[in-house]
Amino acid sequence: MSETPLLEYDPEEYPLELRMQPLPEPPPPFWRTPKGIGCIVVFAIAVVGAIVGGVVPSAVKKSKTGGGPGVAAVTWQSNGQHIRVYFQQDDGFVYEGAWDQGTGWSPNRAQLFQAKTGTPLAAVVFAPAQVQIHIYYVDRSNVLQEYVYNNGWGKGATLPSPNLSPITSLTAITWNESMSQQTRVYYQRQDNTLQEVVYSSTNGWSPGQSLGNLAYPGTGLGAVATSYNNVSFHIYWQANDLSLHEYIWSNTWSNNILQWSPVPASGISAVTWPDSSGNPFIRVYFENPAGTIQEVGYNGTSGWVLDPSALTDNLVSLRAPISAALWVNGDDIEIRAYAKSNSSSTHTEFTYSGSWTSDNLSF
Ligand SMILES: *[C@@H]1O[C@H](CO)[C@@H](O)[C@H](O)[C@H]1NC(C)=O
Ligand SMILES: *[C@@H]1O[C@H](CO)[C@@H](O)[C@H](O)[C@H]1NC(C)=O
Ligand SMILES: *[C@@H]1O[C@H](CO)[C@@H](O)[C@H](O)[C@H]1NC(C)=O
Ligand SMILES: *[C@@H]1O[C@H](CO)[C@@H](O)[C@H](O)[C@H]1NC(C)=O
Repeated sequence: MSETPLLEYDPEEYPLELRMQPLPEPPPPFWRTPKGIGCIVVFAIAVVGAIVGGVVPSAVKKSKTGGGPGVAAVTWQSNGQHIRVYFQQDDGFVYEGAWDQGTGWSPNRAQLFQAKTGTPLAAVVFAPAQVQIHIYYVDRSNVLQEYVYNNGWGKGATLPSPNLSPITSLTAITWNESMSQQTRVYYQRQDNTLQEVVYSSTNGWSPGQSLGNLAYPGTGLGAVATSYNNVSFHIYWQANDLSLHEYIWSNTWSNNILQWSPVPASGISAVTWPDSSGNPFIRVYFENPAGTIQEVGYNGTSGWVLDPSALTDNLVSLRAPISAALWVNGDDIEIRAYAKSNSSSTHTEFTYSGSWTSDNLSF
């Protein structure tokens, strides 16, 4: 199993001008191949967290200061657009900031649950009959937990998370198969490799793939599920040499080295949408050395493109977690990205609506 895994995309439909690397470990037997995927609706979006706290090697601790706890944003459409942003405050609680089309940001922030100080955060939303929001976080015993909105908030599952790094980030994706809801959560292990946790509504939670290349300690994590032909996942992470990498699941796992190098332990987040033919567009966000958020993109059949500029001139807090989410309105793509501001303890909202602008939020 040390051969280079090949992507099973039709190269005409999904050209790969990217360098491939073999994964050092074969898939474990408990990996469940996504089978019988029919029409897949990808509601999910990515998210990131990066962290301080716990037993942190001093070099890493230094590189993580200023990042602060995670941030996780989700969006959905139902009688207009909705945004929810999850973040931790100094009291250790995770709060929800809410934006609804027509009313804007709610002045009140719901207090949800207590987490480890500096917890990373990831969240997904899906809507089988009514909206469900699932938040992933690290509790005060350094265990991965879920908190769920399903017609009211409550504690969800305790996820299998052996060897969780005390400075892990988190990212999560969800999608609907004909017979089940599927979720994947990714975290960093103490040996700095990445680990997948698998959820299916028919089988519950189980450990997934071990992704064996060494990541930068405290790497940001972003992920998307694209539904071109069959579902594939793209997980964005930073290697020890600081380069941005992409793990792809598409019937088999592969690892691409992308051409960009975020700052060490940069926040990383990603969003995706299909073009009218179903080709995946992907946008990945990370912090560039100037302290602004850089966007890079995968344009369907035209491969990776570097957008010429950063989102705005606004500086983000050093190595702040970043979380981006989007909605599609006909031909209109709206993207929101969130990160701690450089100048205060509140967050900046970066808005793409034809061009990028930014606002300082009150939380
Ligand atoms: C998608 O998945 C289905 C079911 O596993 C399979 O029959 C089909 O060939 C796949 N299509 C592509 C393009 O891989
Ligand atoms: C998603 O999957 C569930 C099974 O868990 C199914 O009942 C539901 O109809 C699906 N929802 C959509 C929108 O396809
Ligand atoms: C990539 O896609 C975006 C959004 O559709 C478009 O504005 C941009 O020109 C495209 N760039 C390339 C090189 O195809
Ligand atoms: C914040 O931005 C200012 C410039 O506006 C810069 O001088 C300062 O060093 C930045 N602080 C941090 C913590 O990045």
